[in-house]
Amino acid sequence: MSLILETTDTAQLQRDWRRGYESQPEEHSYWIDEIEGQIPPDLHGTLFRNGPGLLDVNGQPIHHPFDGDGLVSSFAFANGRCHYRSRFVQTEGYRAERAAGKILYRGVFGTQRPGGWLANMLDLGLKNVANTNVIYWGGKLLALWEAAEPYRLDPATLETLGLDRLEGLLQPGDAFAAHVHVDPFCHWDGGASCLVNFAVKPGLNTRLNLFEFDQAGRLLRHQKFELGGFAFIHDMAITPNYAIFFQNPVGYNPLPYALGWRGAGQCLVSQPGKATRILVLPRHPSLGEARVFTTESGFVWHHANAFEVGDELVVDSIWYDSYIGIDPETDFRKIEFGGLPPGQLARTTINMRTGATERRFFDTRCCEFPVLHPAKVGRDYRYVYMAAADGPRGNAPLQAVWKFDLATGQQQVWSTAPRGFADEPIFVPRPRSAEVAGAVTPDVGDPQANARPDEDDGWLLTLVYDGARHRSQLVILDARGLERGPLAVLHLKQHLPHGLHGSFTSRYFGPDV
Ligand code: CO
Repeated sequence: MSLILETTDTAQLQRDWRRGYESQPEEHSYWIDEIEGQIPPDLHGTLFRNGPGLLDVNGQPIHHPFDGDGLVSSFAFANGRCHYRSRFVQTEGYRAERAAGKILYRGVFGTQRPGGWLANMLDLGLKNVANTNVIYWGGKLLALWEAAEPYRLDPATLETLGLDRLEGLLQPGDAFAAHVHVDPFCHWDGGASCLVNFAVKPGLNTRLNLFEFDQAGRLLRHQKFELGGFAFIHDMAITPNYAIFFQNPVGYNPLPYALGWRGAGQCLVSQPGKATRILVLPRHPSLGEARVFTTESGFVWHHANAFEVGDELVVDSIWYDSYIGIDPETDFRKIEFGGLPPGQLARTTINMRTGATERRFFDTRCCEFPVLHPAKVGRDYRYVYMAAADGPRGNAPLQAVWKFDLATGQQQVWSTAPRGFADEPIFVPRPRSAEVAGAVTPDVGDPQANARPDEDDGWLLTLVYDGARHRSQLVILDARGLERGPLAVLHLKQHLPHGLHGSFTSRYFGPDV
């Protein structure tokens, strides 16, 4: 009996999850008026989100959500109200395919027609879908996709202003990663915050650029490194002195792509059992050479945070047993969650003096999209927040927001199960004075930050796809008490497909109020 019940529930869960990947071709702009609870009156600023908006072109399905055209949303908060807006990034590919009414490009992750993020290496065409992240920095709103230049958007209207080559720093087609990190207190810059990002050009000898920008968006530091061998790198972690990259055991066989059999991203070959290389790159030339360490096999998309303790570096990440691709014969909509390895939170400690490394898992819960208080980036910290599975073990869709106390192992879960699905949460500190709030434009730089006892004094903002209504919600949780339930649920008039990343700025970009 219980087995039948479980099967039915699993089928319903799979149906709901799949519907959350229906395209949202419409753009919207309205004040959100269907609200349960109350928006905190001191929540002031704008949450930007990015993710695939189209999972098909005129009814032709794309092969993988990572190939979907970027649909950017903004939630502008002021005086206890919230204005919502969404627009597609008007990329060259989006406009061309809309005009043609059919798929014109091969996607990196298997959609057929020319394209692909490793395409620079192969000198083939490439579709920049601008769908992975969106950040406000130096007065610019940028939609990011890791294998090509950012698209600049108007932060108030979300109108696309065009490709942005960062004052000539990027050449046409150059990569610029989607995972920027803000150092809240940079000791080379008098304690000002700075934006750190990287660009990977994969190849037999992968080249990596490390960029740092000041608050006005001006380039502060630019370093170039060569990594031995092929590297597939999506994210990094930073500390006050280092940028840390995991070179997981993944190889690349370009032939099926060159021959048109597979998307570039489908030519990644997992090498289970082989060690992970940890690349520790100095953020300033005065710190000497890059160093390489090794640790356990596995695969990491995202790091939660890193920090320095004496001779040791500590890096918290979401680890998988190995890289899992989607082969050309498989429809991602039919993936069976139970058959795949879960992502799990683990801490890697690197002794820079002895070279010894150690990896230790915190918990079994399946999770992704780790975030933290913006003032703790690169510093010893206590709380990490993630999107997570409803249950404590096994691979499953992300249906909950999970708070984990790294000091005590205590945890809090707020779940949207059985029919909800949670995106990446964003932590917004509660403003205590004019200088606070904002993940990307913070003047939160504060050497005393580590001593603050109130690291979880703020809100978690997360998008939830509600399978029962086929609509999405923005949920506001008190980061100190997830289990008390949301402070507010803001119901959108439409659904948004399961999304990727976003950021918060303390600037308000809604209509005049
Ligand atoms: Co990511």
